Amino acid sequence: MLDRRIQELESGSLARIRSARSPDDLEAIRVELFGRRDGAFTLIGKEMGRLKPDERRRIGLLLNAAKRNLEEALDLKKRQFADAELSARLDAEWIDLTLPAPGPRRGHLHPMTQIQRELEELFVSLGFTVLDGPEVETEYHNFDALNIPATHPARDAQDTFWLENGLLLRTHTSPVQVRGMEKLGPPLRMIAPGRAFRNETVDASHEHTFYQLEGMMVDRDVSVAHLLYFMRTLLAAIFKREVEVRLRPGYFPFVEPGFELDIRCVICGGTGCAVCKQNGWVELLPCGLVHPNVLSMSGIDPEQWNGFAFGLGLTRLAMMRHAIDDIRLLQGNDLRFLEQF
Ligand code: DAH
Repeated sequence: MLDRRIQELESGSLARIRSARSPDDLEAIRVELFGRRDGAFTLIGKEMGRLKPDERRRIGLLLNAAKRNLEEALDLKKRQFADAELSARLDAEWIDLTLPAPGPRRGHLHPMTQIQRELEELFVSLGFTVLDGPEVETEYHNFDALNIPATHPARDAQDTFWLENGLLLRTHTSPVQVRGMEKLGPPLRMIAPGRAFRNETVDASHEHTFYQLEGMMVDRDVSVAHLLYFMRTLLAAIFKREVEVRLRPGYFPFVEPGFELDIRCVICGGTGCAVCKQNGWVELLPCGLVHPNVLSMSGIDPEQWNGFAFGLGLTRLAMMRHAIDDIRLLQGNDLRFLEQF
């Protein structure tokens, strides 16, 4: 009787194990067979108590063999499920390690740096040297050597950041002219891009820190015609076309004659807009012929040599070029703004 039951249990269970569809199915079968309280094997084990000793040993051997077979079948099936799951996961997670990496995100130069580098290249191609000067300057280089009288308002603490040690933050890049003349002597062609600082209330068109590009050429018989030629060349290079210019008289103690060079507004073409404040022209390039006092203070004989100088408002130029209407945008590092250039 028990022989039959054990045989049927074994063959029936083997078939079920082989056709199980999931690890959960398997677990259910395992509990049905070997569950401690009412698993089939437990029940049969209990019934064996009533058998005679010989019979009990014989059935016990049968039962153990069936149990071992079923346990092996369960193990095997369980491993098959695990293998299948692993290979499905490997298929899903497959990556090609030989693909090139995406690499870091590429940025670009700040619009001020771009314009500065373009102008440096242009002037170098015209035979000019690019000079650098200190941002913390002496009163002599920033004012005296540029023929700026002691009474000039720029010397006032209202306009200039004075340091406690008597030095100051340069208010323009013009002191680099002086350093260039002192260091290199005539003939001289130099530019000096850099930051300048003024004790200024900040608004859409004023910053306490801004960029200028100073230029100077000292040679024999330099005239306003030379000055105009270089200024036109400079503007055409930046705006990639001819730009209409006009000269107005302007007073700067270090040049004589001195000019304000205006350009026809490149935003509106001269009809009037917010950038040119409705007047069609934009003041961009103060310049002039170097004052004889300035030459002689730096050890150059004004009877032998003369020259021109200019102080380009680099920040203003970048604003014109990109039609930027608030200077503060260029000073900040807001990527939403910078990524447009
Ligand atoms: N340094 C002057 C300023 O910042 C600008 C300037 C005017 C520079 C005339 C020059 C020049 O070289 O010739 O306002």
